[in-house]
Amino acid sequence: MTTLIINIKELLQVRETPVSKVSGPEMAILPTIKNAFLIIKNNLISDFGAMENLPEIKVDKIIDAKGRVVLPAWCDSHTHIVYAGNREQEFVDRINGFTYEEIANRGGGILNSAKILNETSEEEIYEQSKVRLEEVMHLGTGAVEIKSGYGLTIEGELKMLRVIKKLSQNYPVAIKATFLGAHAFPSYYKENKAGYIDEIINKMLPEIAENKLAEYIDIFCESGYFSVAETEKIMQAGIDFGLKPKIHVNQFNSIGGIQAGVKFKALSVDHLEIMNPEDIEALKNTETMPVALPSCSYFLSIPYAPAREIINAGLPITLATDFNPGSTPSGNMNFVVATACIKMKMTPEEAINAATINGAYAMGVSETHGSITKGKKANLIITKPISSYYQIPYAFGSNLIESVLIEGKTLT
Ligand code: NIG
Ligand code: FE
Repeated sequence: MTTLIINIKELLQVRETPVSKVSGPEMAILPTIKNAFLIIKNNLISDFGAMENLPEIKVDKIIDAKGRVVLPAWCDSHTHIVYAGNREQEFVDRINGFTYEEIANRGGGILNSAKILNETSEEEIYEQSKVRLEEVMHLGTGAVEIKSGYGLTIEGELKMLRVIKKLSQNYPVAIKATFLGAHAFPSYYKENKAGYIDEIINKMLPEIAENKLAEYIDIFCESGYFSVAETEKIMQAGIDFGLKPKIHVNQFNSIGGIQAGVKFKALSVDHLEIMNPEDIEALKNTETMPVALPSCSYFLSIPYAPAREIINAGLPITLATDFNPGSTPSGNMNFVVATACIKMKMTPEEAINAATINGAYAMGVSETHGSITKGKKANLIITKPISSYYQIPYAFGSNLIESVLIEGKTLT
């Protein structure tokens, strides 16, 4: 099956020579081809270029993209899409003056989601989660990382990871699974934190590794959750079982999580709302990707990650949604890109780089996703007719996507 897209107004994120990520001043450069064509053979990008160089080939299908921009599908490297129920009541409680922390301290928050998840069947969790996955695919996401972390029991965590595995088998988007047993301390371990960590390390991790249910290990390193020492212990155990760390740090406090992540060669450190200069310094000359989650800042009214400082320090940055029932009930990468431009003062070029190639890096799929490169998956967004790609962040509340192709097939 060969598909030819012609008359593309502008083809974005064209990388003839593949890159795994872009950093610092490179982030401001978004290579494009105006008036372009793109050829898809089976599920891969096989050729692209300017219309005047269009080769004569036999194709099965032609898409005329006149007036439309084409770009690689978003790579969302941080989500909690698999969950049960919702936390609408806590949303209203926050409007009425309670903080996220106060709600968590009285048994709401992550523990509330864990209670619902443990009471819900695996089939039902799958049914609820697939609706969200299908929604984000139609919003242009072509690769997504999904975490466990609402089980907090061995049965619950394994159930979540099996749902993630089933989603990855049934949908064409790239899905990476992360084990986040260390998301919070369950109530029956409140007075015995070492006991829960022991359960993570000696009961959950061996099962997960044996059944190949996760590639990454995550820990919520934060005051009141997992300390730096506990985070390091769990990261080491994860590494011993073949999992690479990708961790939650600096959401509410800067307590040394970034330094711990860097020390254990984490693939990414995510959240970064509260950063001091030493935290930025610690990321220099490392392979650890800083990941910002602006929809979380928006929804909780907490600071935005200091993207400008991070980029000005020569570092890369990734944008992801954090889609979860408590802090970010939205998986819309278009909104994330717009919010990064509007609130974090990232340029459209920087934001698109952060949401495509850098997102692919932060979930370990940059060899196959995140740019227009020959041989990569044909995961593409075709916009509606627009004046320029600036519209994507500028018209922040509009849906500018006309169609999404995953592995060369148009979503219906
Ligand atoms: O990334 N910060 C930790 N975990 C999630 C929120 C969890 C929840 O409230 O359910 C996050 O924001
Ligand atoms: Fe998260």
